[in-house]
Amino acid sequence: MAIIEVKDLVKEFVVVRKKTGLSGALRSLIKPEKSIVRGVDGLSFDIEQGDIVGYIGPNGAGKSTTIKMLTGILHPTEGDIRVCGLSPQKERKAVVRQLGVVFGQRTQLYWDLRLGETFELLKRIYRIEARRFANTMDVLHEVLRIRDFIDTPVRQLSLGQRMRGDLAAAMIHEPSVLFLDEPTIGLDAEAKHAVRQFILTMNRERRMTVVLTTHDLDDVEFLCSRLLVVNHGKLVEDGPLDDIVGKLAPHRLLVIELDREATLPDHDRANLVRQEGLKVWYRFDKSDITASELIADLSAKLPIRDLSVQEPDIEDAIRQVYRTTGQEAAG
Ligand SMILES: Nc1ncnc2c1ncn2[C@@H]1O[C@H](COP(=O)(O)OP(=O)(O)OP(=O)(O)O)[C@@H](O)[C@H]1O
Ligand SMILES: [Mg+2]
Repeated sequence: MAIIEVKDLVKEFVVVRKKTGLSGALRSLIKPEKSIVRGVDGLSFDIEQGDIVGYIGPNGAGKSTTIKMLTGILHPTEGDIRVCGLSPQKERKAVVRQLGVVFGQRTQLYWDLRLGETFELLKRIYRIEARRFANTMDVLHEVLRIRDFIDTPVRQLSLGQRMRGDLAAAMIHEPSVLFLDEPTIGLDAEAKHAVRQFILTMNRERRMTVVLTTHDLDDVEFLCSRLLVVNHGKLVEDGPLDDIVGKLAPHRLLVIELDREATLPDHDRANLVRQEGLKVWYRFDKSDITASELIADLSAKLPIRDLSVQEPDIEDAIRQVYRTTGQEAAG
């Protein structure tokens, strides 16, 4: 059984547009215009235990709205959700024990408490046994290095420290699923690395399932075994990053530097696309020929000094998914 099951999920928001340019008295007589925004528009997917799934899409695609429904913060307009076999809406208390949530944009910590006091409070809320709590804290200190600022009030923490504190707080009750909404936003390179290492460690050592939204493709490359791409509230791609990029940008380039001028041969499974002096570019498709086959073919016919293979640009490919699927959904 999948640990997360989502079927035909819809979330509509009623947006009220205030009349502008009218005086107060007149405004109160005229009904405000209401319109309905579909933040999530018929999503279905399953997530298996132990996966790290990247939930990506452009701004406004419906990612945070989905996470809020999966964690019981928002109620769906339509559709079914099961997390660990439970309904986050109907069995909120039981679900909350099984999951951890971190919103990168907003802390869940108590602003006025020291970080350590927050952890103590969570220990009592979740009724965690002392030895178990101590063990978990040891692991969290080890991976997140929070000991240095455990006595600092949350309001005084830097963004990177605060994020580590938030991640630790989400783990105190040893959840089986962790939802992370932009956990690396605004962090410097080192803090990003710490967050990624933490996610990997928790996933490997505790088989924790992770669903994370991000705009940082390094997060995706480093962490995610599977990607769900949403746009306009709809699922538009589902699969490993390589497959999605391979589908959208199947071409690779073989860049060759020649020793001296030579007659450039045609190749039946690669195209000569560019030439500048002694430098030449052959474009080929991964599914037609491997780089080593092409290199072997060409080196028999050309005086090669140096060469490199350029992989498709992931960022370009993802931008293309957002662009093309956006047009379809909007059109
Ligand atoms: N409380 C709300 N009231 C009205 N509309 C909302 C509300 N929350 C979200 N929306 C709308 O639902 C859509 C999806 O928003 P959501 O926050 O889920 O996007 P997102 O994918 O998380 O984007 P981002 O990458 O910017 O965080 C947007 O059009 C947004 O304006
Ligand atoms: Mg969001």
